[in-house]
Amino acid sequence: MAQTYGPVFSLYMAETHMVFVNGFSSVKEVLVTKGTEFAGRPIVPIIDYISNLKGIILAHYGQVWKEQRKFALTVLRNLGLGKRSMEERILDEATYLIQAFKENMSVPFDPYDVIGSAVTNIMSTLVFGKRFEYDDGSYRNLLELINKSAKLIISPWTLLFNTVPFVRKLPLPHQTLLKVTEEVLAFCTREVEEHKATHIRGQPRDFIDKYLEEIQKSENKGLGFEDSKLLVVVSDLFSAGSETTARTLQWALLYMVAFPEIQEKSQKEIDTILGENTCLKYKDRGKLPYTNAVIHEIQRFSNVLPLGVAHAPIKDVQFHGYTIPKGTMVFTNLVSVHHDKTQWKYPCEFNPSNFLNDEGDFLKPEAFMPFSAGPRMCLGENLARMELFLFFTSILRSFQVFWPDQSKAPDLTPNFGLTQFPNHFKVALKCRQQT
Ligand code: HEM
Repeated sequence: MAQTYGPVFSLYMAETHMVFVNGFSSVKEVLVTKGTEFAGRPIVPIIDYISNLKGIILAHYGQVWKEQRKFALTVLRNLGLGKRSMEERILDEATYLIQAFKENMSVPFDPYDVIGSAVTNIMSTLVFGKRFEYDDGSYRNLLELINKSAKLIISPWTLLFNTVPFVRKLPLPHQTLLKVTEEVLAFCTREVEEHKATHIRGQPRDFIDKYLEEIQKSENKGLGFEDSKLLVVVSDLFSAGSETTARTLQWALLYMVAFPEIQEKSQKEIDTILGENTCLKYKDRGKLPYTNAVIHEIQRFSNVLPLGVAHAPIKDVQFHGYTIPKGTMVFTNLVSVHHDKTQWKYPCEFNPSNFLNDEGDFLKPEAFMPFSAGPRMCLGENLARMELFLFFTSILRSFQVFWPDQSKAPDLTPNFGLTQFPNHFKVALKCRQQT
């Protein structure tokens, strides 16, 4: 449609007016050049119902969102975001992940559950202060709920919920989304209550403890720190940080079995630079330009959040000759940025050279924006990048990953949802070294 109508066009889906922005330069204009003007979120009934606009992801632009975002960033940073202690936690979790892969390797297996558990444990350690065993029933249930809601939020029933008020109470499939949201909140409520009962003032163990202290400190200051927001912020961090990173690693394994020569080249680099016994460190990515390029290419090609998260102008905005009214739903098409022919050497093929110069050094083009850009950009970028590098490199160091079914090729077709994900697939593993 962008080819026919230009980089900015709009659609009506039932009553909802949506603007789509395509290509690197127009998307950059929305996210960065006019970033503040477009830093709002649209008001959509289902979103209002789910979050009551209290968390970070869906909160309206303004002082309360700014305070919540600043607080979350600071706390995550001090709890280890971007610091060595966080690195240690991820590396610890990587050993559980490798162990779980080993236990499953006698027959081809679907790696998604194990990856999902490892990634969610990182968020869990940060937010709840504890990790869960991969086979813990209540935790498994929570992961499935988060998964389900990412699929349901863009279903036709949700659209119906948004447009026809009287169907909201009818027993139609959108009720499942509401039930899922309530269950996730109930899980978080149990954790918050447990924290309230055991937290010792001045000795915060995790994000929830920090937030509880902030509620006491900022009482009546109008900064928005209150119990109900804590629940939504916690569920925001948990869901934003789990599904996206897990899906990226799921794609990573699929691409590695689909392009074995890339897997092999990356393993050779890892072996040459790190050898067998060196402990992996996040700073090693500087010495592993090819592997680093592969990870970036996985993100560019998989587009796990294909349309990012919807933005909305905070006032009427002039854009490309149109007036876009305040509150209109604006989607930045990140897939179009990652496939923009003016920005990439190989826009439509999986090729790590997109991130390498002629000398083989790593370089990151400006059009790489899986975490979006500007004032609303992903606040978990540093954590996610550390997780992707440490988990991915640990897996490639330990295993050769194969496609087990020689009768048909890996299916790289994405399923479109809030996140983009592959069909379930199985891989075969062969140990590369004793770890
Ligand atoms: C590979 C992993 C990830 C990807 C691809 C990703 C991508 C994104 C994108 C595209 C957005 C929308 C930005 C916008 O509105 O323009 C976003 C927002 C957000 N992400 Fe991530 N994310 C990832 C991991 C994480 C992690 C680990 C966390 C938690 C620590 C996180 C927390 C958030 C939050 C809270 C927002 C909302 C920011 C706001 O509205 O101010 N994300 N992310």
